Amino acid sequence: MKRRQFIRTSTAAASTLGFGNFLYLRAETKGANDKISLALIGCGGRGMSTAPGCCKRHPVLQLKTVCDPNRTRLAKAAQSVEKDFGSAPNAVEDMRTIFDDKSVDAVWIATWEHWHMPAAIRACQAGKDVYVEKNPSLNIFEGRQLVKAAAKYDRIVQVGFQNRSAAYAFSARDYIKSGKLGKIVTVKSYNMLNYGGNKFTVTPEEPVPDDLNWDLWLGPAPMQPYRKSTFGGRDRYWFLGGGTLSDDASHVMDLARLVIGDPPHPKSVYGWGTKQINGGDSQTPQFQEITYDFGDFVMTCSNGGVTSYMTKTPGKIRGDKTLFPNWRNNSTRTEIYGTEGLMYLGRHGGGWQVLGKNNEIVAEGGGTFPDQEHQANFVEALQRRSKPNGDAEQCHRSAVLVHLGNIAYRVGNKQLLFDGEKERFTNDDKANELARGTYREGYSVPENV
Ligand SMILES: NC(=O)c1ccc[n+]([C@@H]2O[C@H](COP(=O)([O-])OP(=O)(O)OC[C@H]3O[C@@H](n4cnc5c(N)ncnc54)[C@H](O)[C@@H]3O)[C@@H](O)[C@H]2O)c1
Repeated sequence: MKRRQFIRTSTAAASTLGFGNFLYLRAETKGANDKISLALIGCGGRGMSTAPGCCKRHPVLQLKTVCDPNRTRLAKAAQSVEKDFGSAPNAVEDMRTIFDDKSVDAVWIATWEHWHMPAAIRACQAGKDVYVEKNPSLNIFEGRQLVKAAAKYDRIVQVGFQNRSAAYAFSARDYIKSGKLGKIVTVKSYNMLNYGGNKFTVTPEEPVPDDLNWDLWLGPAPMQPYRKSTFGGRDRYWFLGGGTLSDDASHVMDLARLVIGDPPHPKSVYGWGTKQINGGDSQTPQFQEITYDFGDFVMTCSNGGVTSYMTKTPGKIRGDKTLFPNWRNNSTRTEIYGTEGLMYLGRHGGGWQVLGKNNEIVAEGGGTFPDQEHQANFVEALQRRSKPNGDAEQCHRSAVLVHLGNIAYRVGNKQLLFDGEKERFTNDDKANELARGTYREGYSVPENV
């Protein structure tokens, strides 16, 4: 199959490009075995622990450009890529240079959440395919805009919800689909972590470090003085991310949605949250309890960072198909209650087990952590021009669960009615404002992608 490509054409120089006014033309095609040139946007922990390794395992993908407004990180990333692959990549501070570079076929976005969608949407508009980390969006509007952009520009978009490439997720889905669990009545998801006290304090204003382009780092977020606490505050500010709910619960709920057959949006959400457990200056809550009404079943999510006795699935279990977590204190499990049985479902490769009527295990499926499978699936999708497992539409719907829960908290711990067709709340104007989000001038997501 031929690889189709849109190329952005513009008379403006890369350095003067805004986040708007693009004009596209379909350009020449590439063969399925042609090398695919990749740019990594965001050279932090996640970006550098995924993209280079994926390129090593799949040499058809070539890491030609690295991008980060933190010049120390950028230099380190460039050195590391040169060491790994034998030639120095282009190193750029500003991702707009990448969108203007016709030789770049695909981007791998591993920034924080506030940059995910502005970057991914612009990448689609510029004719690039996209791998974008979770939680994909900062609000409902921009998540939908990515779905539209991917469709309009015919781009491959793989969202980094890697459980969507886990073999055990598919076998759990098949088991439920077979009817052996009976009719699903309730799905209880947990993301009950230990954030070591969870107290967060705003630090004083300081000069911007010499090696940091603060304007680009903030991007769509409001311009503000540099503070160490903001620079390190990914889970703490609504303008940077969606708290622990988007950080980890997004994975858990996405996996839960997948195995129960990717249902459409819920009809309502009741979200409760609190910051009163340990105090501090965080905008995001320390604990949340959320209920989603899907009409014929209900889903809940218990989420936060204040339950020190709960544990994530240990590394040994993540890598061994024959081992299962101790479900009772597993912090990222989902319990799926059917009329005929209870399925425990783990994250991080934890697998699944079904409990029967006499407390016996009646079925199980072991698993391993599916990061590399998800990356391989992206490469395969690029080569075949096929739909990837982390499809933009379904991952957007999973991300909407995060936004619903957070918005219900932000409007005062309320029940919100949701029109899934329009992706709008019907009983709260403020909730609709939060679903739309705001952007700093020059970094907005367009109404018409
Ligand atoms: N799928 C998973 O299991 C998984 C695991 C860990 C992290 N993540 C996600 O990956 C993302 C990155 O997390 P991380 O731990 O690597 O964070 P990090 O802070 O280590 O790295 C983020 C990098 O993005 C850079 N950046 C900021 N603005 C940028 C811009 N305008 N252009 C280019 N780069 C920019 C920062 O300077 C930093 O180097 C987050 O969204 C996180 O949720 C996903």
